[in-house]
Amino acid sequence: MARRPRSLTGIQPSGMPHLGNLVGAMEPAIALQDTHDSFYFIASYHALTTTRDAAVLRERQRQVAMCWLALGLDPERTTLWRQQDVPEVCELSWILSCFTAHGMMERAHAFKAARDAGRDVNMGTFCYPVLMAADILLFDSDVVPVGKDQKQHVEMARDIAQAINHRYRDAVLVLPTPVVPTQEDRAAVPGLDGRKMSKSYNNHLPLFLPPKQLRKRIMRIVTDSKGVDEPKDPDSCTVFALYKLFATAEQQADLASRYREGGLGYGTAKQELFELLDARLTAPRERYQALEASPQRVDEILAGGAGRAREVARARLGRVRAAVGLN
Ligand code: TRP
Repeated sequence: MARRPRSLTGIQPSGMPHLGNLVGAMEPAIALQDTHDSFYFIASYHALTTTRDAAVLRERQRQVAMCWLALGLDPERTTLWRQQDVPEVCELSWILSCFTAHGMMERAHAFKAARDAGRDVNMGTFCYPVLMAADILLFDSDVVPVGKDQKQHVEMARDIAQAINHRYRDAVLVLPTPVVPTQEDRAAVPGLDGRKMSKSYNNHLPLFLPPKQLRKRIMRIVTDSKGVDEPKDPDSCTVFALYKLFATAEQQADLASRYREGGLGYGTAKQELFELLDARLTAPRERYQALEASPQRVDEILAGGAGRAREVARARLGRVRAAVGLN
């Protein structure tokens, strides 16, 4: 049987994901498990470049694992693990760093942004793309679903792999391709104030809030000040932009025409958005609560994933060691 293409992505353990993460990253990655051999891990080593509280780091890893599971990541079909449970990635990262030009790392957008913002640039932050390349190359990843901001890092992984394949005149490493959400509305989900949804703007809708709190946040969405009777423009309205992401074509057309007719207040539109979102999130919210109540189930899934991932990793690392002369 032909090998299915492999998809791999790293999930930052940065707390409860929000609606923008769901639409831009989680839903597309979860959909790939139908067509791809999927390998998804929690990028704890990467988080350590900025997280300095052990309890927080521990807690966030669980939280993010539970979110993915609640949203439909199927641990029977998708390998899910914590990065530190396959420490082979650190050895590959070292080997790759010996083939990575310092100048290329200095051109990484994420590093430049951290430096320009005057943030503490530790060696972990500087070497972040090399570790990410190791994540990708250790598992023979064909496609890597990532946000726009991570595309450059995947391209660097590809460059590093090419350098090694070229040097040893052999296809030692599989060349990965980044997959970035193309549909404009998936890539840039607006937040409550109309800017891109982001936890750092505090304009986000966290995924698993109690319904009352979800509704309260939705009611904070900023709109223009048109009165109930006035006709409104759905295409410039944040409420409608969010509604569109989850509504059927019919629901969208119906709400859009009521915007244009007049007689629809923003409060009503927000209530309809709340109902739609709540319906989408009820089942995952219940699954999330069930996982919270059985931590040993989550531990088992992560341990199972680590076991499978480690087998793949050891085989690949062995071949890289042999190719460069470290066996
Ligand atoms: N850097 C990625 C992010 O911030 C997370 C990540 C780490 C990753 N390793 C990866 C993504 C490997 C894809 C592949 O979102």
